[in-house]
Amino acid sequence: MPNIKGRSLLTLKDYSAEEIEYIIDLAIELKNKKKANIFEKHLANKNVALIFEKPSTRTRCSFTVGAVDEGAHPEYLSKNDIQLGYKETVEDTARVLGRMFDGIEFRGFSQETVEKLAKYSGVPVWNGLTDEDHPTQVLADFMTIKEKFGYIKGLNFVYCGDGRNNMSNALMIGCAKMGVNYTVASPKSLEPDSELINICRTYAKESGCDITITDDIKKAVKGADIVYTDVWVSMGEEEKTQERLSILRPYQVNSEVMGLTEKDSTIFMHCLPAVRGNEVTNDVLEGKNSVVFDEAENRMHTIKAVMVATIGN
Ligand code: CP
Ligand code: NVA
Repeated sequence: MPNIKGRSLLTLKDYSAEEIEYIIDLAIELKNKKKANIFEKHLANKNVALIFEKPSTRTRCSFTVGAVDEGAHPEYLSKNDIQLGYKETVEDTARVLGRMFDGIEFRGFSQETVEKLAKYSGVPVWNGLTDEDHPTQVLADFMTIKEKFGYIKGLNFVYCGDGRNNMSNALMIGCAKMGVNYTVASPKSLEPDSELINICRTYAKESGCDITITDDIKKAVKGADIVYTDVWVSMGEEEKTQERLSILRPYQVNSEVMGLTEKDSTIFMHCLPAVRGNEVTNDVLEGKNSVVFDEAENRMHTIKAVMVATIGN
């Protein structure tokens, strides 16, 4: 069994397929225990700091509920509560929090900030979303996939929309590690970064899957087991709204797109929050193949598993 005690989770690039599967299986075990009213308090006497530069429903509540279920104290620190990076350097805040807390969650803009927190705090740091990455979301997505299909490796995963945002990046990394065929259907101007594609192709070679980048959504979704989308305008990019709405319109996931998979078993996934009528239609989001609320619930079980595995007693 892998041991990830003391490790940070900044990106799934740092994790092997075996370690990712271990976190998912631990999350499934903790979910079953919670449903059976068994609480083992793996985080008794621990304190965790939750830093949020950007808003959040799922991630914040998952860290809070996950920590409390396991006996830890969570401390929420919004950007207005602390002076991270403007009146105090990230390095200094990291060293102070590291003296008091057993683990630190960070959601914000820069991947560099979460890396600095990990480097200077001396305690495990968990990435709760940056402009570049969203690894804890991918853990919940794979947990949901495992619950629905019974396995992960070999499935066909198609992501439609903004191909260079944090979700597309994180999913491409996760799929490449786990041996899931990953296709991005996006306009050419929103394709994933070529350096990241190359990194993921090296993982894909090892795990035995393909990474495909295309601007043809109709061809992309054929044979898909999972169709995934995310908002067209991520947090912090609001000034790009008009441009995104016009170029991403052909990449909307609607009933016609879902029909083109030619499989009744294809599931629809979205990290949420969703803008109905933009990246996904209401009927698909509410349809029988949508698993978005299982995914949202699984954020809590997977985030709890990450805390238990990295700082648990
Ligand atoms: N999916 C997700 O990260 O949701 P929140 O922004 O609500 O945390
Ligand atoms: N790409 C989205 C994900 C939200 C969970 C954003 O960054 O706003």
